[in-house]
Parts: sequence; C-alpha cells; structure tokens
Amino acid sequence: MSSKNAIGVFDSGLGGLSAVREFLRVLPNEKIIYFGDTGRVPYGTRSRETINKYALQDARFLLDKNVKMVVAACGTVSSVAGNALEEALSVPYTGVVNPTCYTAARVTKNGRIGVIGTSATVNSHSYKLRLQKLDPALEVFEQACPLFVSLVENGIIHRDDQIVRLVVRRYLAELKENGVDTLILGCTHFPLLSEAVSDFMGEGATLIDSGRETALYAQKVLGEQGLLTEDTEIKTPEFFVSDTPEGFKSVAGLFLGRDMEHAVTQIDIEQY
Ligand code: DGL
Repeated sequence: MSSKNAIGVFDSGLGGLSAVREFLRVLPNEKIIYFGDTGRVPYGTRSRETINKYALQDARFLLDKNVKMVVAACGTVSSVAGNALEEALSVPYTGVVNPTCYTAARVTKNGRIGVIGTSATVNSHSYKLRLQKLDPALEVFEQACPLFVSLVENGIIHRDDQIVRLVVRRYLAELKENGVDTLILGCTHFPLLSEAVSDFMGEGATLIDSGRETALYAQKVLGEQGLLTEDTEIKTPEFFVSDTPEGFKSVAGLFLGRDMEHAVTQIDIEQY
C-alpha cells in the first residue's frame, strides 16, 4: 500500500468535520477524504441494522477511493457498527470511542466521568463499557442529548443563546449534580457546543473532544504501521456528500473553524 494514499473519514453529516479540523492540525501533510452522509442524517435515532448498513456503505465508498485508513468520525457509528467495520475492512480502522476513553480514563481525578451522545450511542453503553474495561472502578454517568444535533446542524451554538443555555441545562444538570470531573463529548457534533457546555459545567469539569483524540490515535496507528506520508507538502482535503453540496458548504465552515473554500461533490451512496 502506498503511503501517498489518503485517510478516509466519514460521519452521518457535518459532525465529523469537527474531527477533520483536528486531523488537519495533527496531520497536515496527510490527504483527507471526507464523506458526510447528509442525505441520510441523522443516524443517532435509527436502528442498529440501519446504522450498520449505512456505515458499511460509507466505508466502501472510501475504500473505492483507495484510502489507507478508515475513520468513523461519528460516535453513533463507532458505538453501534464499530465491530462490523473492523471485521469487514482490509485497512486499519478506528472509531472515536476507544481513543476518547483512553484519554478520559487518564484525565479523571475523581473517577467520575460523564458521557453525552446521541440516543443510539447512549443506548449502546459503548463508552461506559470501554471505560469500565480500562478501569472497573470508574463511575460513568451517561446522558443522551439528541437536541444538540439539531441545534448544531442549524448553527444555533452560541454560548449566550437562550435556547442553547436552556437545552444545555436541561441535559447536563444531573451530570453536574453527580460531580463528574471529566465529560466526554461522545458525538462529533458536540464540540461546537463546547463553550456553552463548559460555561454550565464550570471549571471543575474537563471536556474531552473525540475528534482530537481520534486524530492523535490515527497518527499513532499509521506511524506504527509505517503508513504515514513522507511528503512534507500540506494537502488539500476532498469532501463528498450524499445530498446537495450547498447546504453542507454553508455550515461546514463552523465545524472546520475556517472558511469552507474546498470543492464538495455529491455522490450516490446507495451504489456502494
Ligand atoms: N455525528 C453523529 C455522532 O457522532 C451524530 C449525528 C447523528 O445522529 O447522525 O454520533
């Protein structure tokens, strides 16, 4: 396999771009090919069968692009379809759950960790199971925050926005009462709400962004397998979506933390 190949990253829609932002920081010389399944988002409210089917199609599209690694930058896919992907793929794979859990387990001082994610993620208990495998003494408190996905998809993210503050309080009050000192943002949409979440949780809680941890983990895996590019040129990422590129482009800049000047191509994911 050529180390010139790209890293394939996918999500149900826009959320995985918060991970791409971290990949571009951590691995600027690597080519990133991103697929956002904007025609079928959200995944977080769907059945296990549907999420598995979608995830395999998304990964097949990326393999068709000859990627050297597949990254599910989606808490829902990582939680529900991670094992199926790992078995099916011929290249290294990572989701966001494992890298994030390693960091959270290391960071916590009081052993009380909060996990927020989509309903599918929380119902799977993926983060909780992984954390307690790493350290059975950890106490893990989970909370599904499905409305966060809609807020973010609509660009309603400002820390002073009354709706944002209300929804954050509604979802996080119990986690705060439980005294978690570490909070896993277990959905890749959620880093966009991190200021509002942090304001509510206070300085005593460290937020763990799954995108950053996953980018660092991918760097480690590719390094160990001798698959990191030796080319020092900074690469331009490529973006593919399953619905019209216009809607995606208008909000993508928020996730990437910079203007979205790259081309976005629409594809038919049902072919894969
Ligand atoms: N970005 C997805 C995740 O990390 C959430 C969006 C969805 O429900 O599809 O779980």
